[in-house]
Amino acid sequence: MTTTKPIRVLGIETSCDETAAAVVENGRTVLSSVVASQAEVHRRFGGVVPEVASRRHVEHITRVLEAALEDAGVRPNDLTAIAVTHGPGLVGALLVGVAAAKALAFSWGLPLVPVHHIAGHIYACRLVGEMRFPLVALVVSGGHTELLYLRDEGHVVVVGQTRDDAAGEAYDKVARVLGLPYPGGPELDRLAAEGRDVYAFPRAFLEPDSLDFSFSGLKTAVLNAVHGARQRGEPINLADVAASFQAAVVDVLVEKAFRAVKRYDARQLVVAGGVAANRGLRAALAERAAREGVEVLIPPLSLCTDNAAMIAAAGTVLYRLGRVADLDLNAVPDLDLTAE
Ligand code: KG4
Ligand code: ZN
Repeated sequence: MTTTKPIRVLGIETSCDETAAAVVENGRTVLSSVVASQAEVHRRFGGVVPEVASRRHVEHITRVLEAALEDAGVRPNDLTAIAVTHGPGLVGALLVGVAAAKALAFSWGLPLVPVHHIAGHIYACRLVGEMRFPLVALVVSGGHTELLYLRDEGHVVVVGQTRDDAAGEAYDKVARVLGLPYPGGPELDRLAAEGRDVYAFPRAFLEPDSLDFSFSGLKTAVLNAVHGARQRGEPINLADVAASFQAAVVDVLVEKAFRAVKRYDARQLVVAGGVAANRGLRAALAERAAREGVEVLIPPLSLCTDNAAMIAAAGTVLYRLGRVADLDLNAVPDLDLTAE
């Protein structure tokens, strides 16, 4: 009797302020997922400080890698490949993961698979369900807001993107004005649940056929409302501001995502990235999906924010497609998704 050997990929992610390593089997089963978050460290600065992030990655990477192997109960020779985020992200942060991945690939004699961070967010969906192609992916994170068309596994085309702020960035900036701690997205989400959409903030739908986004006008409208009230000495209900801001973001994200599904005749809508953890967005997507009979796949909260299981999942897809790199792989801070 022959048994096929499972594909076990060690994923490494250090593009921003999470040092993460994970082992995934056959691209679907998470054997371990370790995430050392630096949010506490950056909180006092109100955002990620790149130099501090790089140093923290160096301090944590060895321990995180050891824990990922130990939790998974695997040894180096049980692994098939090593996948690592090589961009986009903070260059000093990315380099820590890339250097670690190259050193391990060399010493353990394993293939090295470079992964685009956003491809990681998308393929996190494979850990929770069947991805049905062609599909449209809405990627909403701290650095990205994009609509992508995936004809097939490994084939990505950007069909819409933000012209200014990313959705998560808008969340973090507005949260800061409301006096909420970093990262502001989850805090603002919590506050929004206690308020009502009474401010009628602008929704930037842009040109009638556009799949692009713009959040800077909304951000300015919120800032003006808050500063104006403070200057006039008027009381301001922060929960209502949060609810109104969230409603404006969610309306646009949902409308454009479903527009793209229709335009590309997609079989599925996949939603990924840190902002996909947003409860208001998840509820609105579920409601619209039910109404339009569209299948939506969203990873659980722990797989929406940065982690390495998603990098291992994407790495498995790319490994099967033969997309391995040499040991001269470098970090690419502004890596293009379509170059994948
Ligand atoms: O994907 P991610 O962990 O890191 C990047 O690749 O950027 O996304 C982080 C972003 C932050 O801007 C954070 O505030 C936002 O995702 N975020 C949220 C929520 N949870 C995280 N935004 C809105 N609602 C949430 N529940
Ligand atoms: Zn991310």
